[in-house]
Amino acid sequence: MSFRLQPAPPARPNRCQLFGPGSNTKLFAKMAASAADVINLDLEDSVAPSDKDSARANVIEAINTVDWGSKTLSVRINGLDTPYWYRDVVDVLEQAGDRLDQIMIPKVGCAADVYAVDALVTAIERAKGRTKPISFEVIIESAAGIAHVEEIAASSPRMAAMSLGAADFAASMGMQTTGIGGTQENYYMLHGDTRHYADPWHWAQTAIVAACRTHGVLPVDGPFGDFSDDEGYRAQARRSATLGMVGKWAIHPKQIALANEVFTPSDAAVSEAREILAAMEQAKARGEGATVYKGRLVDIASIKQAEVVVRQSEMISGA
Ligand code: COA
Ligand code: MG
Repeated sequence: MSFRLQPAPPARPNRCQLFGPGSNTKLFAKMAASAADVINLDLEDSVAPSDKDSARANVIEAINTVDWGSKTLSVRINGLDTPYWYRDVVDVLEQAGDRLDQIMIPKVGCAADVYAVDALVTAIERAKGRTKPISFEVIIESAAGIAHVEEIAASSPRMAAMSLGAADFAASMGMQTTGIGGTQENYYMLHGDTRHYADPWHWAQTAIVAACRTHGVLPVDGPFGDFSDDEGYRAQARRSATLGMVGKWAIHPKQIALANEVFTPSDAAVSEAREILAAMEQAKARGEGATVYKGRLVDIASIKQAEVVVRQSEMISGA
C-alpha cells in the first residue's frame, strides 16, 4: 500500500439503482415496494422539456409522502448545460424533507461541475438548516467525463457513487452504435473464421473503478437498454462485478432481480473466501506467508481478495 491509504467507500448496499421518470407518478409506489437498494427519481432525460416543472413538483411530493423504507433515495437533476438544473436543486432542497439522501449529477465533465452544484447545495443546506448532508452521485457519460474521471472522483467530500452512462457516453465518443451497453455487433477480433466479441465498455469501466477506488467512491455500471435480454444483462453485470463495480442500474423492474443476483456474492464464493482466510490463518500459525489451497497458491494478497468478498456479503446481509 502507498503511504496514502485507500479510503473505504460508503458502506451501503448499491446493487441495483432503479430509475423512473419524475413525470410518471404511478411508478413511485411500485419503485418504493421494489427490491432495489437505490431509487433514482429522474428529472433529466426521461422527462420531456414540457414536463420539467410538473415532474419536479411530483418528485418533491413523492420524497415527502411515499414510504421509501431503508432505500437510498436520489434525484437525478438536469445537466449543467440546461436551464433547468439550478431550479431542480433549489426546489428539491428547499421543499423536500430530510428523507432525500442524494443528488445525481448527469454528464459531469470536470471537477468544477461538481464544485458548482456543491456550492449551491451547501448554501441551501445552511439557509434552510438542513442537518443531513446531501451526498452526490455522478454519471460519467462523455469524453470529457472519462478524460477527467479522477479529478471528478476527488471533487467533493459529498461524492458517494459514480456510474457509467453507456448511451450518452457512446454518443459523445462518436461510437458507431445505438446499443445501450452490452455486446456490440462490430466489436470483434477475427481468429480464422471465428468472431470473438470483446467488450467496448471495458476501458471506461476500468478507469471509473480505478478513480472511484482511489477516492472512496462506489463504482456503478449504468443502464442496459434491452430489457428483454436477461442473459445479455447478466453477462454485462458479471463483467462489471468482476472489474470491481458494486451494482448496476435497472431501467425496468425486470432487471432488479438480475442485478441483485449478480452483485450479491454467491454462497459458494463466500464459503471459498472464508476457506482461503482459514487456510491463511493456519499458514500464519506455521510462520508461513504463502500456502496451497485446492492446488493453487494463496498468500497475503489472497487475504485481501477474500476479505473483499466476505465484507461485501456481510454488508449486504447487514451483519
Ligand atoms: N419502476 C417501477 N415499476 C415500473 C417501472 C419502473 N421504472 N417501469 C415499469 N414499471 C411497472 C409498470 O407500471 C407495470 O406495472 P403493472 O404490472 O402494475 O402494470 C410493470 O412494471 C410492467 O411494465 P411494462 O408494461 O413492461 O413497461 P412499460 O411499457 O410500462 O414501461 C419503460 C417501460 C421503459 C417506459 C419504463 O420501464 C420506464 O419508464 N423505465 C425507466 C426509464 C428511465 O427512468 N430512464 C432514465 C434512466 S436511463
Ligand atoms: Mg444520460
